[in-house]
Amino acid sequence: MAKDKGIKELEDLPGIGPTSAEKLKAAGYDDIEKIATASPHEVSDISGISVDAAKKAVDAAKQATTLEFSTGNQILEKRILLGKISAGAKGLNELLGGGVEANAITEAYGKFASGKTQLGFQLCVNVQRPVNEGGLDGKVLFIDTEGTFRPDRLEQVAKAGGMDPKQVLENIFVVRATSTDQQILAIERADKLIRESNIKLVVVDSLMALFRSEFLGRGALGERQQKLNSHIHKLQKLADTYDLAIYMTNQVMDNPGILFGDPTTPVGGNVVAHAATTRLYMRKSKEEKRIVRLVDSPNMPEGEAVIKITSEGIKD
Ligand code: GTP
Ligand code: MG
Repeated sequence: MAKDKGIKELEDLPGIGPTSAEKLKAAGYDDIEKIATASPHEVSDISGISVDAAKKAVDAAKQATTLEFSTGNQILEKRILLGKISAGAKGLNELLGGGVEANAITEAYGKFASGKTQLGFQLCVNVQRPVNEGGLDGKVLFIDTEGTFRPDRLEQVAKAGGMDPKQVLENIFVVRATSTDQQILAIERADKLIRESNIKLVVVDSLMALFRSEFLGRGALGERQQKLNSHIHKLQKLADTYDLAIYMTNQVMDNPGILFGDPTTPVGGNVVAHAATTRLYMRKSKEEKRIVRLVDSPNMPEGEAVIKITSEGIKD
């Protein structure tokens, strides 16, 4: 039930003074809704005001109390979003079965300018919304390995979403990592911050850039994958322990082994492939359009959604 903004307390009703309000409360009529469903005679008997005056008070209470009706579909939509972060666009949310999941790792891979970072920014804003509005009512830890964190861009998206941009930025903790050791440390030392600040989204943008530049050549591959594996395990553990969502971006390479179709494959090999609960392949289309393909998901069928990167964020 929603109430008329002007009438909140019993004392706000016409004819009900502090003494009669006190008497009504003592008799169990402690809020506007209870008065709205009471008979004027009851109210008069209890409070000592005249029946006429009581009738006016009950009528005012009725007017101040409105019922909100939701369709089954509206409720379904809200339920689907529980435990998920809205990606900003309906089509993409549907592809994801509601949004980016908590307790899971979502990976977005694709070429440069395909929108991986922009989607991350949108999630940084949306995770801060209340649970029934497509958020997780939580804050963000953002591991920036490519130096592409843009607070001004986040402000823009936050403002467009009707949120206070300063507050939104205040709720994002950024670590600029310039080596794999820093990247790993940022996650290993994150527990305290996550607990104390109610972090509900960890963004790693990008997962592989530093690993690729530090471990060059075939000889280093084994060592790289071992280090990467333990890093990803730690991320998984955070997701499980704190019911948070992990969103990581990934780079791609051309796989010469694929003769037909799109040869673009994410880097990181099996270690990354196995870790990601949901994998999204993003590619550029005309102008601001991007195609997002759901490549791997535990419970949703493969499919595609078209999104737009606008100055206001991700849209259908
Ligand atoms: P890499 O990190 O280089 O691999 O790319 P990415 O996939 O992370 O790309 P990103 O998410 O940074 O997307 C970049 C694209 O977003 C650009 O091509 C722009 O078209 C678009 N973009 C960024 N900011 C804005 C903006 O303020 N308004 C609009 N309309 N588009 C924007
Ligand atoms: Mg990027």
